[in-house]
Amino acid sequence: MREIIERIEELKKEKNAVILAHYYVRDEVQEIADYVGDSFYLSKVATKVDADIIVFCGVSFMGESAKILNPDKMVLMPDSTADCPMAHMADVDKIEAVRSQYDDLAVVCYINSTSELKMHSDICVTSSNAMKIVERLPQKNIFFIPDENLGRYIASKVPEKNFIFNDGFCHVHSELRLDEVKRGLEAHPEAKFVVHPECKMEVLELADFIGSTAELIDFVTEDDSKEFIVGTEMGVLYEMKQKNPNKKFYSAAAVQICPNMKKISLEKIADCLANETNQVEVSAEKREQASKPLNAMLELAK
Ligand code: 13P
Ligand code: SF4
Repeated sequence: MREIIERIEELKKEKNAVILAHYYVRDEVQEIADYVGDSFYLSKVATKVDADIIVFCGVSFMGESAKILNPDKMVLMPDSTADCPMAHMADVDKIEAVRSQYDDLAVVCYINSTSELKMHSDICVTSSNAMKIVERLPQKNIFFIPDENLGRYIASKVPEKNFIFNDGFCHVHSELRLDEVKRGLEAHPEAKFVVHPECKMEVLELADFIGSTAELIDFVTEDDSKEFIVGTEMGVLYEMKQKNPNKKFYSAAAVQICPNMKKISLEKIADCLANETNQVEVSAEKREQASKPLNAMLELAK
């Protein structure tokens, strides 16, 4: 492993590259990344880095967003097949149909979406800024795509808005079952339960804290409790343990793994950097239109 890490370091210097990674990728990838974070943090970093090449260790919508926000840089994906199924779970015809029913409507698009969906949306959100952004929007009616669970959670927090939901879901989070969480809480009665809002409402109702991956990490770091049951992709346990070596963390489900995030390996990072393969390409038209909701998010979340 040391050899491949050294090779990546050399390539980074030679090519003036920077590595961004989401908390759900493998531990060893998080370890060598220059920036590790949740989707919102990584989208902000992507607008600021001054390297020539961004290697994005995450899924397609993340690489695409980085390219849209930073068109002059080369963005490389270590595995071009690492895609988020939920990113495709809405469609343009439905967006147009809902638009035709309301005068006062904002199409709010979770960043976990294709650039095609972003092009037809008014503003993007991530799990860490969705509540703030929806509260600040002037429109009364919100069509929230593609994730129904996150949409319902935000709707419960912003009751003054009228939400229209879409039936997309993240299979990694929505499969977390109530009985599994209850069993964990019985087995660890001192533990607090922290969970990501992509999980079902019945599971969220048991939570001591609900937040994006970065917010969950901050919460367990600042809270006095010594044990936590964690309801999100198991990759976050790496950072939680790094920051809190004396606390105990239990995954809420036996297996909560995003197979696409786990496709990223050190070997694939070295390969794509060495050969400059898997470059993210976004057409000028897409870039122009999809950058509007992304920039609107960066502006309104300030
Ligand atoms: P956050 O990084 O915003 O918490 O999103 C979680 C996720 O599912 C990313 O794919
Ligand atoms: Fe998509 Fe869920 Fe994987 Fe995130 S964890 S990339 S939302 S499938």
